[in-house]
Amino acid sequence: MGMKQVLILGASSDVAMSLARKYAGEGYDILLAAREPEKLEDDASDLRVRFQSEVTLLSFDVLEISAHDRLVDELPRLPDVVISVIGLMTDQTEAETNAKAAQLMMRSNFEGPSLILARFAEKFRTRGTGTLIGISSVAGERGRRKNYIYGSAKAGFTTFLSGLRSSLHGAGVLVITVIPGLLNARMYKYCENPKFLVASPDEVAYAIFKAQSKGREVIYTYSIWRLIMMIIKFLPEWLFKRLSF
Ligand SMILES: NC(=O)c1ccc[n+]([C@@H]2O[C@H](COP(=O)([O-])OP(=O)(O)OC[C@H]3O[C@@H](n4cnc5c(N)ncnc54)[C@H](OP(=O)(O)O)[C@@H]3O)[C@@H](O)[C@H]2O)c1
Repeated sequence: MGMKQVLILGASSDVAMSLARKYAGEGYDILLAAREPEKLEDDASDLRVRFQSEVTLLSFDVLEISAHDRLVDELPRLPDVVISVIGLMTDQTEAETNAKAAQLMMRSNFEGPSLILARFAEKFRTRGTGTLIGISSVAGERGRRKNYIYGSAKAGFTTFLSGLRSSLHGAGVLVITVIPGLLNARMYKYCENPKFLVASPDEVAYAIFKAQSKGREVIYTYSIWRLIMMIIKFLPEWLFKRLSF
């Protein structure tokens, strides 16, 4: 039995790279799957040198459903942990009038990540061990006027993960839903927000590894977002629709 292995989908993101460093530091070998894996050569070399981990780059586009089976079948062995960091947020105003743009956001945040994790879920169920981790968003907790297309797709993903968790109950497989609030990464466009609401990619990676170690199933980063979203979800619709956010 070799080292433990983690497969990170959406590997070009800052959060994915923080996860790669965290898991490598914990003794894992790293599989990085991205649409343009050749762009990650330097990061892979850096991980190999710093952590003596085995790092493998894989080409993967989550929107190509036919590539899902290929990814699963071509892996040298079934990983211990699979994490989807994949997400896409484009301009909401554009997506409101352009069905193709809306569809791209819906498929990238809901359909693709759900279906690829489901493929691994079946393999993990048969093996009787494994951890599946999906990065969703607080945007999925309630439909806001400014990002409800992205948000509703994330809601679908969160619900999918919840169902997957129930379905795998007793099968030895841990399913973790990560719900970031504000995150200081590529999608971040909220520079005006107070620091205590904005987590860094390293902090998110650390929280994810900790959740895995402790067997926690739904985490918010930062955890204050759990309380904020509880309040936001509690607001009656007549009031919520009048609020400008
Ligand atoms: N930033 C925030 O404020 C915030 C808040 C809450 C939740 N989140 C979530 O946190 C995660 C990381 O976000 P981020 O800000 O770091 O954004 P990001 O850098 O854009 O990360 C998204 C990742 O998804 C990948 N991706 C998109 N479409 C793909 C596809 N069809 N196939 C494969 N990979 C695809 C991107 O790869 P490419 O480089 O190939 O495009 C990128 O690596 C996302 O799931 C996001 O929804 C972010």
